[in-house]
Formats: sequence, C-alpha cells, structure tokens
Amino acid sequence: MRLHGKTALITGAARGIGLEFARAYIAEGAKVALADVNAAAVAQAAKALGPQAIAVTMDVTQQDSIDAGMAAAVAQMGGLDILINNAALFSAAPIVEITRADYDKLFAVNVAGTLFTLQAAARQMIAQGRGGKIINMASQAGRRGEGLVAVYCATKAAVISLTQSAGLDLIRHGINVNAIAPGVVDGEHWDGVDAFFAKYENKAPGQKKREVGAAVPFGRMGTAADLTGMAIFLATPEADYIVAQCFGVDGGNWMA
Ligand SMILES: NC(=O)c1ccc[n+]([C@@H]2O[C@H](COP(=O)([O-])OP(=O)(O)OC[C@H]3O[C@@H](n4cnc5c(N)ncnc54)[C@H](O)[C@@H]3O)[C@@H](O)[C@H]2O)c1
Repeated sequence: MRLHGKTALITGAARGIGLEFARAYIAEGAKVALADVNAAAVAQAAKALGPQAIAVTMDVTQQDSIDAGMAAAVAQMGGLDILINNAALFSAAPIVEITRADYDKLFAVNVAGTLFTLQAAARQMIAQGRGGKIINMASQAGRRGEGLVAVYCATKAAVISLTQSAGLDLIRHGINVNAIAPGVVDGEHWDGVDAFFAKYENKAPGQKKREVGAAVPFGRMGTAADLTGMAIFLATPEADYIVAQCFGVDGGNWMA
C-alpha cells in the first residue's frame, strides 16, 4: 500500500498502459481518476476497477476540457497528489508523405496536451501546498530519430525536454516532475504500429512485432505491467530527490 491515501489522475487511461497504471495505483491504495477522450471506454474501465476509480472525460487538446476534467477529479477525490501524463497518439510516414494535419494532431495531444495538463495539475498542487508527483510518458522514440516515425519521435523528444524544464521549475514547490521512456510495449497501440510498418515496409501482419521483440536485449516486447514498478516508485516519497529525469524501462533497448 505504497500509495495509501494518495489521489492520482492518469490521462489516456481507457486502455493500454494508462489503464494498467490505474489498476496498479489502486492496488497500492490510491484513488485514481481515469481521464480519457473516449468517454464510453473510460467509464467502463473505471467501473471495472471499483469504487477507488472514477472516470473523467478529458480531451487533452482542449483547455476547457483539461480544466473541467481536473476540477471534476479534484472535487470527487478531494485533491490531487499525482499526475501521469500518458495520453498520446502515434503515426508513421516517410518524410515526404508527412502531412501538416498529422503533425498538428500529434503535437496537440503529445506535447501541448502534456504541457497544459501538467500546468493544470501543478496549479492545483501549488494551491494545496503539499507538493506532488508528475510523471510524463516519453518513449525510447524521444531519444533518437527513426526513419519512418519523425513526428512521433519529435513529440517524445519534446516531452523529455518539457520534463526537464518543468522539473527544474516546479521542484521549489515540492513537485517532482520525471518521465518514463518505455521501449516496445505490446497492446492495442502496437497493433496500430505494426499495421503502419506492414504498409510501409511491406511486412506481414505481426512481423514487425516479432522483429522488435526479438531485438530487445531482454528477449521480448514489454508489457504494460513491466512499467508499473517505475510508475509507483516515482510517485512515492522514496523518489523525492529525483528531479527532471527520464528513465528507460525498455528491456535494455536504450542506455542513457
Ligand atoms: N506501447 C508502446 O510501445 C509505447 C512505447 C513507448 C511509449 N509509449 C507511450 O506510453 C503511453 C501509453 O501508450 P499506450 O500503448 O497505452 O497507448 P494507447 O494508444 O493504447 O492508449 C492511449 C490512450 O490515450 C487516449 N487519448 C488519445 N487522445 C487523447 C486526448 N486528446 N485526450 C485524452 N486521451 C486521449 C486514447 O483514447 C487511449 O485510451 C503513450 O504516451 C505512448 O506514447 C508507448
């Protein structure tokens, strides 16, 4: 029960890694607001997790939606101790096929969404006066470019940079901002990634997944459950002296 009595908001929690984080936080004693743009899915996910979970409809690209979602979560949970900025979109295309619309969409969710949800959480935490923990979901894709994944990689590099700046600015309020950089995590997200590579690299469905899994030094793709240990640790007082860092949890894919 390492998060007993704590309150957390997790964006993009209707499925995948965000949903697994919500499950793990509740098992550690936290109350969790699952926030997602997919209202029906997030309502169902929160219901399945029981009374420690609440659902919040939140589109992180819309300031009104961030503000209303944050206010609803704080009102229902009685405060906010932890934010996980997890909502994100992925896309892939050769450089000459990237569209401005796709670029705008990814930066709106992955970068502006991360910054302005972080800002709303920080304002709440500062007003409460008891510090807090903010965890941004970066990616190994933010550490280096990839030929077919320019826009997503750039958004995740921006998330790492925002983690550093916000971490340095907010620690004077006792708010720790850090990031997790997963490698390749199996799930619905990677089903989509696999489909992109099937199209652009002429691979059979499932082939890219097998290839990236085999290339991980640990020997397989990650699972959402592989990431929960770091997400819990970064939200505990044991992580109080950790500021503005990005941690790879990737089976050895990247060495910082
Ligand atoms: N799966 C991986 O291999 C992997 C690797 C590295 C990093 N990550 C990062 O981890 C995080 C979670 O990934 P995942 O695999 O669970 O992704 P996912 O696609 O399964 O889930 C993303 C969730 O975000 C929600 N979302 C999308 N747009 C939103 C918006 N505007 N407002 C609110 N919610 C929105 C979706 O509805 C969905 O529930 C993301 O930040 C992703 O970039 C994932």
